[in-house]
Amino acid sequence: MKFFVDTADVEAIAELNDLGMVDGVTTNPSLILKSGRDIIEVTREICSIVSGPVSAEVVALKADDMIAEGRKLAEIAPNIAVKVPLTWDGLKTCKVLSSEGKMVNVTLCFSANQALLAAKAGATFISPFIGRLDDINLDGLELIGDIRTIYDNYGFETQILAASIRTANHVTQCALIGADVMTAPPAVIKGMASHVLTDKGLDQFMKDWAKTGQKII
Ligand code: E4P
Repeated sequence: MKFFVDTADVEAIAELNDLGMVDGVTTNPSLILKSGRDIIEVTREICSIVSGPVSAEVVALKADDMIAEGRKLAEIAPNIAVKVPLTWDGLKTCKVLSSEGKMVNVTLCFSANQALLAAKAGATFISPFIGRLDDINLDGLELIGDIRTIYDNYGFETQILAASIRTANHVTQCALIGADVMTAPPAVIKGMASHVLTDKGLDQFMKDWAKTGQKII
């Protein structure tokens, strides 16, 4: 499973990238706001660090405007994936931009039918939002499984990019279901390294080592 980092925090991206944990990056208008930086400038910097797909989201709502924005965003770097919302205009934009050979990430997907439409419109990635479905007492992971089944039934090449991941367990479940990619905030990715028994075991080893009185270097 590919790991994308869901942030516009350049330092956090660079740290994870140095560890080989970053296959791509996703941003959205809320993450750009949080970064406090200009979208073009910060996206260009991210693309200089990460060689995999970097999603940059259009903010227009009409297809013609979205297409123009998408083309401008795609000029930032060859690894830009233009992110468009799963609306009818977004699907039109997806079809046009993907036909031009650009990567397109169709975002804000909350149903299997939406994912089916995105695949038929030539999306490179479909982004079903797990956490936001869980927030309203629906089952985000069930959606990932449904999309996996549908895409496999018909051989769609659109990659399932599990998004709105809030916990390390979401990552495990997405990997078991067979999501192609997951995107998560840096804290969730780092949290995957944590286990209470690792901490407990290390603590005991340190105590016992101190009792030996030995030194390695
Ligand atoms: C994905 O591309 C989105 O940026 C992101 O995963 C949304 O996550 P949130 O629901 O935690 O804001």
